[in-house]
Amino acid sequence: MDDTRLSGAPAAAAPSARINQIYDQFMYDDLFRAYWGHSDFVNFGYWAPGTRDQQEACENLMEKLLAFLPERTGTILDAACGKGATTRHLLKYYAPEAVTGINISEKQLQTCAANAPGCRFLLMNAADLKFEDGTFDNILCVEAAFHFDTRERFLRQAWRVLKPGGRLLLSDSLFTRWWERIKPPGRMLNYVEDAAAYRELCQSAGFAEAEIVDAREECASRFLRNCVRFLRSSCLAGAIDRDALTKMSGRMSLYVLNIRHYLLVAARKAAAPAPGVTESGTRPSL
Ligand SMILES: C[S@@+](CC[C@H](N)C(=O)[O-])C[C@H]1O[C@@H](n2cnc3c(N)ncnc32)[C@H](O)[C@@H]1O
Repeated sequence: MDDTRLSGAPAAAAPSARINQIYDQFMYDDLFRAYWGHSDFVNFGYWAPGTRDQQEACENLMEKLLAFLPERTGTILDAACGKGATTRHLLKYYAPEAVTGINISEKQLQTCAANAPGCRFLLMNAADLKFEDGTFDNILCVEAAFHFDTRERFLRQAWRVLKPGGRLLLSDSLFTRWWERIKPPGRMLNYVEDAAAYRELCQSAGFAEAEIVDAREECASRFLRNCVRFLRSSCLAGAIDRDALTKMSGRMSLYVLNIRHYLLVAARKAAAPAPGVTESGTRPSL
């Protein structure tokens, strides 16, 4: 998510500079750090029944996405790794040397190293991946692809740097037309209507298939309810005043209410065809 106490970066700034300005402020704000339990996750999480707090919801979301993988082996790229909390979660299953995280924020990358020691972290734009073809067994991208310039470019790049048979796991927000016009990268470049259109986008980027679940209620809606409750209790405790409460909960609501779908996606790159067999599965005629 990208709402903040919201200074609102200048409209003329490059999209990546605006995104860094917003997140580098929001992610290091004491109030919101406390909301995420000082875990350094910054996403909606997945609010399964009985989930107690935002950090647990974020861990649930990681498990939901990783459950799409038939096995948690080989190498994995954490694209738009934030402050490295998603990367740290990967260390439950992967050795540090198997994990690479990328982000466009130098500030956040400095925090990543402390959160996930031994992993490789690189300053890199997810829409312009500098890796060789077929580098990773799997790629993860939690709540960030809607920022990329463009999402479609990222999907094509992700397909290229995946090994045959590899999967791209995403949680991704689909916004209203109005929001797509005003948020970076703007100009409707990342507007996608629904899950069916998202599947087509994955397939046109090269993926053989995409499993997609719409978890708007479990992720975005329950996040909003919980976050607004937290802001109200922070106001009652005197941590913020009533003006701040009104402003922050209003902006948070506006942001979340403009999300029409919150998708959990596993897009699979086709396995390499057996020797002598074409990608369509037929043997070439002699
Ligand atoms: C909502 S945060 C999610 C962070 C992390 N994945 C998590 O779930 O805790 C979005 C992240 O996307 C990063 N980001 C935005 N645009 C990016 C780009 N083009 N390439 C790489 N990272 C990007 C931001 O810096 C921010 O860390």
